[in-house]
Amino acid sequence: MDRIIIQGNKPLSGTVKISGAKNAVLPVMAATLLAPGEFTIHKVPDLRDTRTMMKLLNMIGADTTFDNGTLTIDSSAANNPEAPYDLVKTMRASFYVLGPLISRFGKVNVSLPGGCAWGPRPVDYHLKGLEQLGAKLNLESGNILAEAEELVGTDIYFEFPSVGATGNIAMAAVRARGTTKLYNCAKEPEITQLCEFLNGMGANIKGIGTDTLVIEGVNELRPADIEIIPDRIEAGTFLIAGALLGEIKVADVKPEHLENVINKLRQTDCEIKATKDTVSIIPPDNIKPVDMTTAVFPGFPTDLQAQWVALMSLANGSSVVTDTVYHDRFSHIPELARLGANIKVENNTAFIRGKKSLVAAPVMSTDIRASASLIIAALAARGKTEISRVYHIDRGYENIEQKFKRLGADIYRKSD
Ligand code: UD1
Repeated sequence: MDRIIIQGNKPLSGTVKISGAKNAVLPVMAATLLAPGEFTIHKVPDLRDTRTMMKLLNMIGADTTFDNGTLTIDSSAANNPEAPYDLVKTMRASFYVLGPLISRFGKVNVSLPGGCAWGPRPVDYHLKGLEQLGAKLNLESGNILAEAEELVGTDIYFEFPSVGATGNIAMAAVRARGTTKLYNCAKEPEITQLCEFLNGMGANIKGIGTDTLVIEGVNELRPADIEIIPDRIEAGTFLIAGALLGEIKVADVKPEHLENVINKLRQTDCEIKATKDTVSIIPPDNIKPVDMTTAVFPGFPTDLQAQWVALMSLANGSSVVTDTVYHDRFSHIPELARLGANIKVENNTAFIRGKKSLVAAPVMSTDIRASASLIIAALAARGKTEISRVYHIDRGYENIEQKFKRLGADIYRKSD
């Protein structure tokens, strides 16, 4: 198993180019199952998760070719509407094929994702939405079997603006008969991109980027091409590292997707300058402690909560971080504590007392963003930290150690 070794406390400087967004490309890849034909997707990050989604599309019968960031998917021969447990358990986003497959084939057999390192992570909104569109659902040996001769548009209200449920049900509804109105939808840029892609395929979705999507069902969809938006979470991760370690610039980004993160970083006394597609950060001598509560977009993303906790561990005072989106998402905290961070967790809130320095120790990553938080903490810590189980980070960050190395970090990967 690979490990990442970091000799910490080295300043960073320079520019880092941000890759295409993992959470945008995965639903777009699933959407190519909606219509037979050849699709071209540009700026696709080479990640373990995009590779897993390709594998799943191949099992369903689609052809995929991935070359230098461009992914071609030919979904003409897709004929096996199934997503097995082996894949779904390694990547929950496999569940995104549910909506497209039932729309195209009238039936689907998808393994039910179990819990994960952040807690239970249910998919009840996806299933309830599908039932409301007229599908019959059964659970057999841990798999959801869904069938519908025809999906029929209706009004659906999501209890919480779930990213996955909004995407999945929108994909199921684009070819349903009549009008589907989705209320309390996710407004994350990745969902906006998915809806724009679906419209590019001939769907009729109105209200994109708002919390109400109105979908007029269409009879046919066609293939389309798309360029994936920049990964705002990768960009935020580098900016938070910069806040501790030096003047850096993230390039090829959309600053409008990072507004809340930029505002929070400014409150810590970082100086931030943004252009149309770059954001630069100049760190202060001392990071001012800043409380943070995660929220759905345009709020502060839960996917940057672990990295923010790492930053606050080195702030000049105490802060409080609350996660309102995923209440149990704190598996990074015992690992940060091994580096000397002083953090207490109660329910969904972390109480952090900033320290002057952290000290290297062997640590273990538990999920994608927890790993990113450990990398940031290790880059700032004194001494040599070894991070194990880094396959988590490979799921969501493209070439992370090369990118940090180019900024001046002493970081490398060791394979056993
Ligand atoms: C997506 C992102 C993930 C991010 C999360 C929140 C992808 C591939 N993953 O995950 O990185 O952290 O959005 O921004 O895009 N919920 C239910 N029932 C459901 C669905 C969700 O109770 O059927 C709850 C969840 O437990 C959670 C909240 O709703 O508390 C938000 O989850 P959701 O937005 O669905 O997250 P994902 O789509 O799984």
